[in-house]
Amino acid sequence: MPPEMPTILVTGGAGYIGSHTVLALKRAGYQVVILDNLVYGHRDLVEKVLGVDLVVGDTNDRVLLDDLFASRNIAAVMHFSAYAYVGESVTNPAKYYRNNVIGTITLLEAMLDASIKNFVFSSTCATYGVPSIVPIPEDHPQNPINPYGATKLMVERILADFDGAYNFKSVRFRYFNAAGADPSGLLGEDHNPETHLIPLVLQTALGKRESVSIFGTDYPTDDGTCVRDYIHVNDLADAHVLGLEYLLKGGDSAIFNLGNGNGFSVREVIDTARQVTGKPIAVVECDRRAGDPPALIGSGDKARQILGWEPKYSSLKDIITHAWQWHQQRHK
Ligand SMILES: NC(=O)c1ccc[n+]([C@@H]2O[C@H](COP(=O)([O-])OP(=O)(O)OC[C@H]3O[C@@H](n4cnc5c(N)ncnc54)[C@H](O)[C@@H]3O)[C@@H](O)[C@H]2O)c1
Repeated sequence: MPPEMPTILVTGGAGYIGSHTVLALKRAGYQVVILDNLVYGHRDLVEKVLGVDLVVGDTNDRVLLDDLFASRNIAAVMHFSAYAYVGESVTNPAKYYRNNVIGTITLLEAMLDASIKNFVFSSTCATYGVPSIVPIPEDHPQNPINPYGATKLMVERILADFDGAYNFKSVRFRYFNAAGADPSGLLGEDHNPETHLIPLVLQTALGKRESVSIFGTDYPTDDGTCVRDYIHVNDLADAHVLGLEYLLKGGDSAIFNLGNGNGFSVREVIDTARQVTGKPIAVVECDRRAGDPPALIGSGDKARQILGWEPKYSSLKDIITHAWQWHQQRHK
């Protein structure tokens, strides 16, 4: 009999990126347990598409965490759960520091007590703030300009200190803009409220919204609109499996950007979505929003070199085609 594959706890596994990573873990043969409080996660997708154990609970619940670690043989934790609305983090920072920082410390302490020391963490390009160079390398200074980014930077710092003190190993991934959906069309992005450009554009194509707002048309970019690095969610998920395997083989703590190295402007996204959907997609041009840098693009070179990561879906057309398949079936 082949040896049993390790069990991985995925916090936030009922959410967007977590659910795609659970699928990638399953495809790679791992056993998976999800911990999600379902504040934003989707039970139906876990039950109908993923078919893994779902523990409905909160990372702030130490008793539940101790039970979970005592009752299952968990080899590593992938930590996706967090609140991630930048605007809300400015108006209600307490909610963000409590969930993203205190909830993570509670989880980390429970892991230490259970002697589980492998951790994959969802950090963000928002920890860089306004970049001085693009593509942004991992050693670029981190100066977040909102509480959301600050919470993620704090956890990165905590993880570095835990490694020094407790030999606690982590891979910290700084994602750029997660986008797209599993090509099966069965899993995808379903945030409520939605703030991400591609779903907003596709909801407009479906007639669920009247128009898409373009915030700023006078940026120093080729067409005057902001440029962002869109990374396919399945490519993110593959990187997580590689990061996990790196840790399970005894790899040292490490930080990786997960970006395409390629940026696309807001107008390019809308034009590509018009081609893919065949719908007109109305736009409204508005003033710039405070705190939006002209371009955010991440170099994924380090993840390619050290983890052997090879993104499969780098074209904007693939990303939007997969997202469109998902949106059509989710909203029919
Ligand atoms: N989506 C992106 O483009 C992006 C970019 C950079 C970083 N990130 C980070 O990646 C992670 C996943 O993002 P996402 O877009 O999948 O978000 P999501 O909201 O779809 O998923 C997060 C999940 O965590 C759950 N959750 C939140 N707080 C919890 C808690 N205390 N206990 C248990 N469950 C909890 C939610 O119910 C949800 O299912 C987040 O940490 C986010 O900050 C996302």
